[in-house]
Amino acid sequence: MSSAHEWKPYREHDTVLIVNFGGQYTHLIARRVRELNVYSEIVHFFQLSRDLINEIKPKALILSGGPSSVYHPNAPRIPHWVLDLEIPILGICYGHQLLATMLGGRVERGRGEYGRVEVEVLNENDILKGWSRIETVWMSHSDYVAELPPELEVLAVSRDSGYIAAFKHRKKPIYGVQFHPEVIHTPKGRQVIKNFVVNVASCRQSWRMENIVDRLIDEIRSRVAEGEKVLCAVSGGVDSTVTAVLVRKAVGDRLVAVFVNHGLLREGEAEEILSNLRSAGIDPLYIDASERFLSKLRGVSDPEEKRRIIGTEFARIFEEVARSDPTIKWLAQGTTYPDVIESGAVPGADRIKSHHNVGALPKDLGLKVLEPIRYLYKDEVRALGKALGLPDSIVKRHPFPGPGLAVRIIGEVTDEKLRIVRRASKIVEEEIRRAGLYDKVWQAFAVVGNDKWIGVKGDARAEGYIVIVRIVESEDGMTADWSKVPYEVLDRISRRITAEVPEVTMVTYAITTKPPSTIEPC
Ligand code: XMP
Repeated sequence: MSSAHEWKPYREHDTVLIVNFGGQYTHLIARRVRELNVYSEIVHFFQLSRDLINEIKPKALILSGGPSSVYHPNAPRIPHWVLDLEIPILGICYGHQLLATMLGGRVERGRGEYGRVEVEVLNENDILKGWSRIETVWMSHSDYVAELPPELEVLAVSRDSGYIAAFKHRKKPIYGVQFHPEVIHTPKGRQVIKNFVVNVASCRQSWRMENIVDRLIDEIRSRVAEGEKVLCAVSGGVDSTVTAVLVRKAVGDRLVAVFVNHGLLREGEAEEILSNLRSAGIDPLYIDASERFLSKLRGVSDPEEKRRIIGTEFARIFEEVARSDPTIKWLAQGTTYPDVIESGAVPGADRIKSHHNVGALPKDLGLKVLEPIRYLYKDEVRALGKALGLPDSIVKRHPFPGPGLAVRIIGEVTDEKLRIVRRASKIVEEEIRRAGLYDKVWQAFAVVGNDKWIGVKGDARAEGYIVIVRIVESEDGMTADWSKVPYEVLDRISRRITAEVPEVTMVTYAITTKPPSTIEPC
């Protein structure tokens, strides 16, 4: 299989390089930079090399946060020559502590600051431009910079602890902030990132989706030779649909789009997706494989085993399609940037769930891989979809996991539980739309497990299932907060589910953030 890594990144735009030390907000930093219409890329700290810097030619570096302590012997570090590159550097949290240490300062275990903290600005300066003397920021650290070398100047301190909240190098464009400017809980955080990226580093703000459409289509066209076909699995979601539309625009009817119904779709979803795809100019090969998937899942309750079975079955189906036409030489996948970064992350990192890309094919099939949206975040894929003229019903569609309702059914997938989760999910979605919340939330759905609750229906004892409603807000699915939807909306959802789904006697609302929870239950 030829390497997908050949897909060209967008370094013709001014690029901010983010060095990842394993912080949970690294993607958020990259997205904040892109929101300023400046292209950004993430590299893991151990990938940083002179060759990489020469290749990317970043206009600025941002060092992310991370869980380590800089004084630990095995702490992640970067080479010292980075400080002599004469490009602006901003260290955030761990990055701030690392810069202070590299320049001769001292970091110690402190009393810890978590959550909202007030800081006092001591020195007017370029990085904190637009700030008042006192500002609220979001902190999450137990180490702190106890001593700065003479080349560094304190810009701001925490009001309570007196800890250094921001510093600046006296001669070079090197800055450190102990707080997290990338999170929304730092109200003037975006200003800090803008000050750094646009004012200090003078990055041109040219990163816009409408500017990359032509290049994407040209690039696909230049790879796929005359007479070669491209197989693309479409799920109806925005990532695979945008991928298919790009391929279609590039190679016309040499796109072979395949939509597999695994029997784990929501109510009316297959018809809706087919009509959406047709309105986007894509007429997929529709394969109803419901029976095939559901029979394989019978008796299986382990979540990873369910995912494995579904992944394998998908691969088999695509293999069958691919082998049926020898002119199919390519596989187009809707892989996005978080998947790319996560798959290259520190080896040995804990695998939380084996998310799979629908259509992941066995390597020996010899198909070459096209991943046109591999450097884009979901909101950028949506913007790209809009630039391609796709309707809101596709562009604003909530993400839906590849393994479908199988990951919203805890334990074995049975016909009864499928029926319950389908009907309950439909009610959740209808009520969320009715309340005008659909575009505000990331996902809204119902979950069912094996637990029962004694109910009373029409004066009679009734034992029924518990349905869990999960409605979350998120920017990228990596972290999420449960949505504080009005009680009246929850009330309507609960009443309708117990009234319209006879097998249900209790409705609960999931109020745990991610982390520590995940969005889907399995
Ligand atoms: P979790 O449950 O890991 O989900 O917090 C994060 C986001 O990813 C979606 N998700 C999946 N998407 N295949 C997919 O294509 C999968 O196996 C899968 N599992 C979860 C989930 O819906 C959420 O938006």
